[in-house]
Amino acid sequence: MTTQMRAIVQNMPKAELHIHIEGSLEPELIFTLAERNGVTLAYPSVDALRAAYAFTDLQSFLDIYYAGASVLRKEQDFYDMTAAYLQRAQADHVRHTEIFFDPQTHTARGVPMADVINGIHRACADSPLSASLILCFLRHLSEEDAIATLEAALPYRDKFIGVGLDSSEVGHPPEKFARVFARCRDLGLRLVAHAGEEGPPAYIETALDLLKVERIDHGVRCLEDPALTRRLAAMRMPLTVCPLSNTKLRVFDQMRDHNLLQLLDAGLVAMVNSDDPAYFGGYLNDNFVAVFDALPLGLAHAHQLARNSFEAAFLPAPEKQRFLDEVDTYFSAFNVV
Ligand code: ADE
Ligand code: ZN
Repeated sequence: MTTQMRAIVQNMPKAELHIHIEGSLEPELIFTLAERNGVTLAYPSVDALRAAYAFTDLQSFLDIYYAGASVLRKEQDFYDMTAAYLQRAQADHVRHTEIFFDPQTHTARGVPMADVINGIHRACADSPLSASLILCFLRHLSEEDAIATLEAALPYRDKFIGVGLDSSEVGHPPEKFARVFARCRDLGLRLVAHAGEEGPPAYIETALDLLKVERIDHGVRCLEDPALTRRLAAMRMPLTVCPLSNTKLRVFDQMRDHNLLQLLDAGLVAMVNSDDPAYFGGYLNDNFVAVFDALPLGLAHAHQLARNSFEAAFLPAPEKQRFLDEVDTYFSAFNVV
């Protein structure tokens, strides 16, 4: 990638729609919070913890990710973690972010739901960024557990805009959560789900048909099914693609094998996201630089990715249009050269 192209993707206005806030917890903050809360970690130092970030698949990552999250105990811990992410996002010219959080990871350890939601929400309210929250259910747990989690979160209904589905994908298909998603739909919550990351294209189909999701998180395996790919393109179903995550978790061996360009060529509303930036080697702009370095992507792709990120956002139409206009104005300066 040229120096100019690098600056263009770094400085362009963008939205981030796939970021797990617990995945933004940097090793340094893990150690600070462990000390503050008297939690003993299995690793003697920041460097030893970081050295353990050598993943072979999704599960090998999730085991370390849940261990890292165990240092979060108090409302202020959730605030500090979220404030740190929002600062990084702002530096990457993120204008709007929709943040996933995993309440079951914390409530199972006795942390009150109020402290989880209020801490994350207060940091969003204090930030100049536009930010919304999406509560994710852990799919390796039961649907009953998800329903109980939803009930516990409903007193804070005004503080999150939607629900998602994450954690170990294979063996936990979307249909396992059909009832709780139907309830969320009745409550007016926006619906998303991880599907087609490690799981087969059939999981993308059941996420659409049985959960009635409005975005697919990851979804990169859709290309294995041409009819599904055509369907996703025709309905303009967004895919929140996470390039560094996909290579770190071996969905693709190397960045040059990533299918982002094929997804765009198929007319899919794909965009770039960081997933778990503290674990996968970088925040949103690091993902843009990595994927633009490895693939033959140019100015038109950058423009499309930025537009797609706002098109796929859960924002009121006028706000969305203002962001899209900002993107088009930004790119009009380069289209003439
Ligand atoms: N939780 C955090 N990151 C995840 C991912 N990439 N897939 C599934 N669950 C997750
Ligand atoms: Zn994810």
